Amino acid sequence: MNENKIIIFDTTLRDGEQTPGVNLNIEEKLEIARQLEEMGVDVIEAGFPASSDGDFEAVKAVAQAMEKCSVAGLCRSVAADIDRAWEALKYARHPRIHIFLATSDIHMQHKLKMMPEEVFEAAVASVTMAKSYCDDIEFSCEDASRSNPAFIYKIIEAVIDAGATTINVPDTVGYAVPDEFASFIRGIKENVPNINKAILSVHCHNDLGMATANTIAAIQQGVRQIETTINGLGERAGNCSMEEVIMAITTRQAHMGVSTDIDTTQIYPTSRIVSEITGVPISITKAIVGDNAFAHESGIHQHGVLSNPMTYEIMTPQSVGKTESVMVLGKLSGRHAFSDRIRAMGFEMEREEINKAFKIFKDLCDKQKRVSDEEIAQIITDHCIYAQAKAI
Ligand code: KIV
Ligand code: ZN
Repeated sequence: MNENKIIIFDTTLRDGEQTPGVNLNIEEKLEIARQLEEMGVDVIEAGFPASSDGDFEAVKAVAQAMEKCSVAGLCRSVAADIDRAWEALKYARHPRIHIFLATSDIHMQHKLKMMPEEVFEAAVASVTMAKSYCDDIEFSCEDASRSNPAFIYKIIEAVIDAGATTINVPDTVGYAVPDEFASFIRGIKENVPNINKAILSVHCHNDLGMATANTIAAIQQGVRQIETTINGLGERAGNCSMEEVIMAITTRQAHMGVSTDIDTTQIYPTSRIVSEITGVPISITKAIVGDNAFAHESGIHQHGVLSNPMTYEIMTPQSVGKTESVMVLGKLSGRHAFSDRIRAMGFEMEREEINKAFKIFKDLCDKQKRVSDEEIAQIITDHCIYAQAKAI
């Protein structure tokens, strides 16, 4: 395998479904899964089979339907969960069992009520058991970023010996900051003797708004799988958003030196499908997929973009599957954008007539936030006699 390829593990259907208020049925999971496969995701985490009969059926349906990508199901480090996950996953062309167990003191003491030695033994036993079902085993040290590094090193080494092929170190509560998370990853690479026998992965939550930055910092330390969701869906403030990290890798390719198999032109359509199915709207200022991500209102920016889009756009709207940039006509817009819009609307006008229409347009902008194409057409028909004749 290309050592600079980043494996994209999408967990929209599992962690994304943990977004409060989101509930996906089998058909909805299948539709999203097909879109994820189409866009080139490597691994789809389809759900948590032991959590409900409905989720079991959904994971099974996704496992049966996917042709190229691997399908993962989540389980706790307990035999019943692993059995149940395998029942659903065994239909997949490329099944993956994903086991998680918390390794931080706070989780072990207050949630699991287990001693570190018990956690260690449960981790090794569950990976050993899962390995009897399939080759592709992922082990996640839940709350890894708040765990004692020495304990993490020990448990990772042991689960790799037991057969884990991917080791995931989540920033479960979005607590890490990039340089610290980078050192944490470096520590794992330097202190786990058999780490090269597994793919190292990260799974970052966005509680401090740093999920994408932490994921990028981890990639720069040699992590080769990242876990993401579409639109950054997920528990609390969500997970690392796939569109952000993919476009960071793509746009800053020369700096990052890594690649993915994602067809970036599928990003926008996928984002809209997921928003529609989950009912979770996308903020207009959301990076990459928000309505304003390629919209310009100020005259200075509009003039720049019309002369050369690269003045204010670091990627093209087409590269993420949007048709074009949007020039929002409002009080800060300039004559360039205005003339451009009226030409696009099919009007041919002399300079004087344009100036006249532009003045009326600006007066209207002082009264309302935005002026629609219909209102611009009305200004032209009402006030620009010559243009009227030439309208097409
Ligand atoms: O955030 C987390 O730690 C998780 C694990 C189950 C991978 O979602
Ligand atoms: Zn998570």
